[in-house]
Amino acid sequence: MTDEHEHGYFTEANSAEVVVARNKNAKDQRLGQVMEVITRKLHEAVKEIEPTQEEWFEAIMFLTRTGQICNEWRQEYILLSDILGVSMLVDAINNRKPSGASESTVLGPFHVADAPELPMGSNICLDRKGEPMFVHGRILDTEGNPIAGAKIDVWQANDEGFYDVQQKGIQPDFNLRGVFRTGADGRYWFRGAKPKYYPIPDDGPVGKLLGALGRHPYRPAHLHYIVEAEGFDALTTHIFDPDDPYIDTDAVFGVKQSLLAEFRKVEDAEAAAKAKVAAPFYDVEFDFVLSRKKK
Ligand code: BEZ
Ligand code: FE
Repeated sequence: MTDEHEHGYFTEANSAEVVVARNKNAKDQRLGQVMEVITRKLHEAVKEIEPTQEEWFEAIMFLTRTGQICNEWRQEYILLSDILGVSMLVDAINNRKPSGASESTVLGPFHVADAPELPMGSNICLDRKGEPMFVHGRILDTEGNPIAGAKIDVWQANDEGFYDVQQKGIQPDFNLRGVFRTGADGRYWFRGAKPKYYPIPDDGPVGKLLGALGRHPYRPAHLHYIVEAEGFDALTTHIFDPDDPYIDTDAVFGVKQSLLAEFRKVEDAEAAAKAKVAAPFYDVEFDFVLSRKKK
């Protein structure tokens, strides 16, 4: 940056350059780089939008309300990042996978760290509500070999679109959550209830913004997974019901073609008995492929 900007007075024309020059002694080089890009892009946006003073104040108040609603359970800035597509973009940048490895998607706010480790095949639907579902598949490496000892942390909303943590006292604690570990064949299987679409928390400024933009707050039905195994990159992802009404318009842009699973309705009583569920049930088969950690 030239001295001209370093000591120059601020004008509409040179605004970004003057601010960037003022930050040139940033103690952290990365911070300096981040603030330079943000400053340039923000000034560019303001120059294109030409907000009135009232509009700019409205933007400030939106950010103020976004902060004010945050608490231990509610992170409205993450929701904002989600509905702007930024969470998915950061996820994509940080999870570039080799071909054949399963794709990642957003973690979301409803993961709990201390879900119980359960025997393979357990029914995670503790209140037995909803349509029975049998979920199974394999954890593989990119050569198609099974991964033994993989840890599969799974959580899902119930048949009304609520997670247990949203309905304390209504759903049992740890309803529709479980941690499983694969054996030598890399297989996993468990029983649950067919999930339903649900709205992201939309009673705050982000929900209001979605409404003003003519957007709905819904996420299509899905199951969350974190799959971890020694020597492999951890995979945070979902599988989705392709027949869900919101499959093409996820409020947080989390859907990827490769994460569409088939939720196959099975009427057969013998198949139900084998899966230890009542007929009819939904059979969901999905393999996950982990990428090896780079040495
Ligand atoms: C979820 O899938 O749990 C979720 C993701 C982003 C925002 C809200 C919920
Ligand atoms: Fe979810």
